[in-house]
Amino acid sequence: MDNACSSQTGPVEDSLPRFATYSREEIAMHNSADDCWIIIEGRVYDVTAFLNDHPGGARIILRHAGRDATEAFLDIGHSARAQVLLRKFLIGVAGRKSV
Ligand code: HEM
Repeated sequence: MDNACSSQTGPVEDSLPRFATYSREEIAMHNSADDCWIIIEGRVYDVTAFLNDHPGGARIILRHAGRDATEAFLDIGHSARAQVLLRKFLIGVAGRKSV
């Protein structure tokens, strides 16, 4: 009772989702059709499994593989459905730009 640390639920932080932070260098290594990560608005997505399902085709995403695709993604004016779909592929957040 007097020891909050022994609580069954643990610290509140443990109940929040935690995402890995990836450096730009690490993200840049995932730049192929077999292993494709992209950054959109600071979040990192592993879209490898989605490439062949993309209505706009795999090639256009691969052009941004390993890099920030925010501008390209937003410029197309993707639908709300596309934004929701994105969540399925979220794996973490991108570290700050080093430059
Ligand atoms: C990886 C995250 C992405 C997801 C989940 C996604 C999803 C979608 C979806 C669902 C559509 C169908 C139309 C709509 O609902 O808006 C679409 C179309 C399209 N996307 Fe993406 N997209 C992604 C990334 C990109 C990127 C990085 C580009 C680069 C410019 C791009 C370019 C296009 C184009 C050009 C179309 C239109 C295809 C057509 O109707 O001919 N997408 N995308």
